[in-house]
Amino acid sequence: MTAPRRLRGVIEVPGDKSISHRAIMFNALAEGSATISHFLAGADCLSTISCMRALGVEIERAGEQVRVHGVGLRGLREPADLLDCGNSGTTLRLLTGLLAGQAGMFAVLSGDTSLRSRPQQRIVAPLRALGAVLDGRQNGDRAPLMVRGAAIRGGRYELPVASAQVKSALLLAALSGSGPLVLNGRTDGRDHTERMFSAMGLDIGNQAGTITFTPPESRSPQPLSLRVPGDPSSAAFWWVAAAIHPDAELTTTGVCMNPSRSGALEVLRAMGANITIEHERNEGGEPVADISVRSSNLRGTTIGGALIPRLIDEIPVLAVAAACAHGDTLVRDAAELRAKETDRVETVANGLDALGATVEPTGDGMGLTGGASLRGTTLDSHHDHRLAMTWAVAGLVASGETRIEGAEAVDVSYPGFWETLNRIAES
Ligand code: S3P
Repeated sequence: MTAPRRLRGVIEVPGDKSISHRAIMFNALAEGSATISHFLAGADCLSTISCMRALGVEIERAGEQVRVHGVGLRGLREPADLLDCGNSGTTLRLLTGLLAGQAGMFAVLSGDTSLRSRPQQRIVAPLRALGAVLDGRQNGDRAPLMVRGAAIRGGRYELPVASAQVKSALLLAALSGSGPLVLNGRTDGRDHTERMFSAMGLDIGNQAGTITFTPPESRSPQPLSLRVPGDPSSAAFWWVAAAIHPDAELTTTGVCMNPSRSGALEVLRAMGANITIEHERNEGGEPVADISVRSSNLRGTTIGGALIPRLIDEIPVLAVAAACAHGDTLVRDAAELRAKETDRVETVANGLDALGATVEPTGDGMGLTGGASLRGTTLDSHHDHRLAMTWAVAGLVASGETRIEGAEAVDVSYPGFWETLNRIAES
């Protein structure tokens, strides 16, 4: 690709990945059927559908419209084969929690090379403490993971990392357990599970960062039909593209504005981006809005602390914004980047360096020197969807030609990304 002269357009970003996964899994455990519209039909969420089907759940899908026929809390069937979670950490971790409390069930969960290299002790240790019977390679730290459904007790657990996947795995185990689960510590990861549990009639609350969940005595959750809001992690590519391109105006419609997901927008604002937020409304139990971004004069910033879990998936593309800004940017407290689909400290720093930016990786983030004139080159997605899209955004302002190897990785979270890019780029 080469840099287009102008960027113009209105983009309806695909459904949110985290909410799409949860809408399938949680409705599978409900008593009754639910319809999910604007479902993200990306490879990750399709892995969740195929795993739930393998557990005996009937799921009909026509494009972005899905109907889930819940089997209730006790209705899942033991899978006949390994559950393939593909590239999806959310599928693997949430399903492991869910299956841990399914007495009598035996299941093995695995996935692609990237997923099998990611740490799982973060779910395995606390699930074991609640009574789960689990194992895996490296004493349970790497998939394949095996689960033997067991009686889950309630208890108290202090979350050491702000991970919504860990929080959700524990809540899903507790759902078929016998006593209340109290979570404190880093409960500040995205809160879609808590919102959806509550909308399905379950007893969950958050008091000053302490989450208390009391499992239902014998009832299953109520089915929840919803329209999935647009994914802010997908919209962020267009926000950065518009902010760094000299002649741009892009509008993303129906984007989820949940405060646990809106950190990237706040950082771009702090960097001086020209952003308009309109039509704020509610969809699927989440706040949504239309967001327009125009060409901007960005300045460097510091991204760290409590902001990190609110924008962790957007850091690769924010690093491109930082490279194009005036002044320096520091990303810190983001060691979690190293546990994503790739080690995103290394992969992002290497790619930006190849593009001609000055970037210094650190243990928990990176330092970036702004003001770079990016030069097109050949970049690798390393099969990481967010890297493929990050390099596409860089290619919108880089001189010469940018080539992205493994560009098809976008299908994991954003099918149609390249078609949208072609539509909004005017040469
Ligand atoms: C997700 C939580 C985050 C995020 C991932 C999706 C979820 O991971 O990076 O893309 O749906 O719960 P962590 O829980 O590891 O922070």
